[in-house]
Amino acid sequence: MDGNGRWAVQRGLARVDGHRKGADAVRETIAGAIACEVRYLTLYAFSTENWKRPRSEIEVLMSLMVRHVHSEMEALAEQNVRVTFIGERAQLPSEVSEGMEMLEDRTSSNDGLQVIVGLNYSGRSELAWAFRQLLRDAIEGRIDPSDLDESALDQRLMTAGVPDPDLVIRTGGEHRISNFLLWQIAYSELYFTSILWPDFTRQDFQNAIAAYTCRRRRFGGIDA
Ligand code: FPP
Repeated sequence: MDGNGRWAVQRGLARVDGHRKGADAVRETIAGAIACEVRYLTLYAFSTENWKRPRSEIEVLMSLMVRHVHSEMEALAEQNVRVTFIGERAQLPSEVSEGMEMLEDRTSSNDGLQVIVGLNYSGRSELAWAFRQLLRDAIEGRIDPSDLDESALDQRLMTAGVPDPDLVIRTGGEHRISNFLLWQIAYSELYFTSILWPDFTRQDFQNAIAAYTCRRRRFGGIDA
């Protein structure tokens, strides 16, 4: 969800105003995903590298998360959306982690769109986390190192049970992955758009899906 800061600066506003508008774009994208019958939508809200930002910006982002959890919870539950979070929770302010747990609990029995929010998440830290679980399981005899295959790692990722993404959308005009789901996107289709995240609408989401449906995926094989 890139481009919040630039969106605000272009309008003579503070960067945090871009994040506030960006939170509205989250609602739009969820509506687009429901309309397109998408099963899983992962939103990268705060990376492990985002702690390098000014303290005041981090505080606004954290309070936006808390406010959004409370203001959106009933609407999400009514839309049959299930929300889960990936990322390391221990470092997050307690009101954020409590809000996350509350939203997960409130929506846990929903079986419509699953929204996965990356908060204090990065692909590399997730892999290190999964390797720690694997090592512990090997040392304590729950897995034989010779049985360690791709699925053993998959099962220990924060996204365990969630299929790999078919499509990755990056807004804001940058052409990079920025530590997002590094293991899971091995064969994902990539879609880059210069639209800044706060301007991203449900129609833009639907356009990305339409572009995806024209792609031919071979997963390293050849066309049939
Ligand atoms: C990147 O834009 C955006 C972020 C680091 C924050 C994303 C967070 C939200 C949209 C807020 C709410 C989220 C949820 C799930 C409720 P940037 O600041 O790097 O933009 P720039 O590249 O233009 O500076």
